[in-house]
Order: sequence, then C-alpha cells, then structure tokens
Amino acid sequence: MYKDFEKVLVSKEQLAKRISELASELDKEYNGKNPLFIGILKGSVFFTADLLKALTIPCQMEFMAVSSYGKETKSNGEVKLIKDLSVPIEGRHVIIVEDIVDSGNTLSYLKRILLQRNPASIKIITLLDKPDRRKVDLKVEYIGFTIPDEFVVGYGLDYDEDYRTFDEVYILKREVYEK
Ligand code: IMP
Ligand code: MG
Repeated sequence: MYKDFEKVLVSKEQLAKRISELASELDKEYNGKNPLFIGILKGSVFFTADLLKALTIPCQMEFMAVSSYGKETKSNGEVKLIKDLSVPIEGRHVIIVEDIVDSGNTLSYLKRILLQRNPASIKIITLLDKPDRRKVDLKVEYIGFTIPDEFVVGYGLDYDEDYRTFDEVYILKREVYEK
C-alpha cells in the first residue's frame, strides 16, 4: 500500500460486489426508461464507468463539474458550476452519480438547479456517504457504503488532485493534510 495511506477502507472486491448489487437495483427500477446518468467530475469517473458498465439496460451518460475544495478537507458551503450539461433534461429520468456525500452542499445545489429544468424524475446515487457530517437535508436514494468521518482518497477521490487513480478507497494519513 502507498505510504500516505493509513489503511484500506473499501477494497477492490467490496467495490465490485456492491457495484453489481447497485446495478441490479437500477436495472429493475429504470427498465424501459432510458435513464440519463450524470457523473460529477472528477471524483465519480471510475464509479460512474464501473456502475454503468454493470447495467444491462440501455442508458445515457453525461458529466458535470462543480468547484472543489482545493487544499481544504472540508466544504465552505459555496458551490460553483464549472461545467454544465450540453443536453436538455426535460422529461428525462435523471440519476446524479457522486463519489461521496459529506455536508450535502454540492448535491443539494446541483439537485436544485437540475430540478428547474423539469426532468421526469431525479435521484442521487453515491458511492460513499458520511452521514455524520451532513449540514443540509438531502435525500440520497442509493448509497454504496456508509463510512465514518475520515478523509478518504482513491477510486476517483482526491486530496488536492492527488491519489485519484489508486484502485481502492483508503483513509489518508492525517499528517498528509495537517501540515
Ligand atoms: P459536500 O458538498 O460537503 O457534500 O462535499 C462533497 C464533495 O466533497 C465530494 O464530491 C468530494 O469531492 C469532496 N469530499 C468530501 N469528503 C471527501 C473525502 O473524504 N475525500 C475526498 N473528497 C471528499
Ligand atoms: Mg468531488
């Protein structure tokens, strides 16, 4: 394991198993609906790709980007849209795909702006959830893993753009960000 990591929190095997369970649920729920999955860049790229490859129903895939924390490990509550969709979502069944829900600020902002565009439905799927840190009331329909209040990286998740490409979810050593 890489030196900056404390331990593996979610292993490759756990990721693969849970993603296939989530894909089966989505297969049933969205059969015949041609859902539009919106991955939130960059943290959810691997999760979005693996989840959608595991589906057996047809669907479409788009991406959006919002501002990140930079060198902070906590959100300051402000969210900025960096990259918008290039397609309309009116009448579509939309599923937002996120890497992790922390305060909930990012997703409650995104859900609010997407709802104004009149989709047929809108739900949220997240790989990880840190419910202890929630600051806003947010409904998250599909959750991969509920995790404790620790800063995690890997499988798309970063600290200041590092560690995204490691293929498991790790707890980052505190000394890395408490300098
Ligand atoms: P929220 O707006 O506070 O819910 O934050 C959501 C975003 O913060 C996620 O999309 C991640 O980019 C980032 N984030 C929150 N917790 C972590 C973490 O433990 N590791 C890496 N990124 C995180
Ligand atoms: Mg993110």
